[in-house]
Amino acid sequence: MADCTIDWDAFFTLHHDLPREGPGSDAMTEQVARGLPPLPAGAILDLGCGPGRQTLVLARTLKHSVIAIDTHRPYLERLAMAADHAGLSTLVETRQQSFFNLADEPDGVALIWAEGCIYIPGFVDGLRMWRPLLVPGGLLVASDVVWLTDDPPDEVRAFWDEEGAEMRTVEEKCIQAAAEGYEVLGTHTLPKQAWWDEYYAPLEARSAALRDGAGPALTQVLDGNDHEIDIWRRFGDSFGYVFFVLRKVADDSP
Ligand SMILES: C[S@@+](CC[C@H](N)C(=O)[O-])C[C@H]1O[C@@H](n2cnc3c(N)ncnc32)[C@H](O)[C@@H]1O
Repeated sequence: MADCTIDWDAFFTLHHDLPREGPGSDAMTEQVARGLPPLPAGAILDLGCGPGRQTLVLARTLKHSVIAIDTHRPYLERLAMAADHAGLSTLVETRQQSFFNLADEPDGVALIWAEGCIYIPGFVDGLRMWRPLLVPGGLLVASDVVWLTDDPPDEVRAFWDEEGAEMRTVEEKCIQAAAEGYEVLGTHTLPKQAWWDEYYAPLEARSAALRDGAGPALTQVLDGNDHEIDIWRRFGDSFGYVFFVLRKVADDSP
């Protein structure tokens, strides 16, 4: 997860060639995607796709074209190569674009997938901003960090405050989603393994490899990264990453 005050060159030196850019796993993406109700007609957008592990799983599982959107071109280039390699290039379109100013799709949007990126606009603002793009009955699936306890320790509370995360419990986020005009179809909590195997483990190894000779900006990024992993190791039972599967409620429904 990124802190807005950091040096982006240093950030991308650390976050280069990692399997994924947030907690998750192919198995979890597939499980959530398989559980979706039938989609209405329209495009599928994968917002903040990063290197695009979930894009490939979505295209393969839903057998539907996916428009993968990110601002960081190297992630999109990696995804395009991976799609080609996986024989999915006809189903994956990459777009270098900000999810803060998405244009309407010609046939509307049936599914917005926002894995590990809704914290950037904020959960409520993201739900509000992307809802008008969805066709009636369209779905929004977002994964976000939440409290798994009603009484988190002060140190972990202070950490997430400093990160600027809008920490809530699952129940509180479901209430927020309903207030923004969504029906909550389900929630799925990532297993702890999905934080480690393809996210924190490679990040920790890369951080260690970059330590020697790192300048002040990179050292600051590495310190922040290692602190986040340490927080997860010590307090990882009190917070988690949860997929929210949401359906747009019609504007005129009571
Ligand atoms: C935490 S990463 C998650 C990446 C990917 N979904 C995953 O789970 O591996 C957040 C992603 O959002 C992208 N991003 C940040 N701001 C963005 C914006 N305004 N529009 C589109 N993408 C953005 C970043 O480049 C990064 O790839």
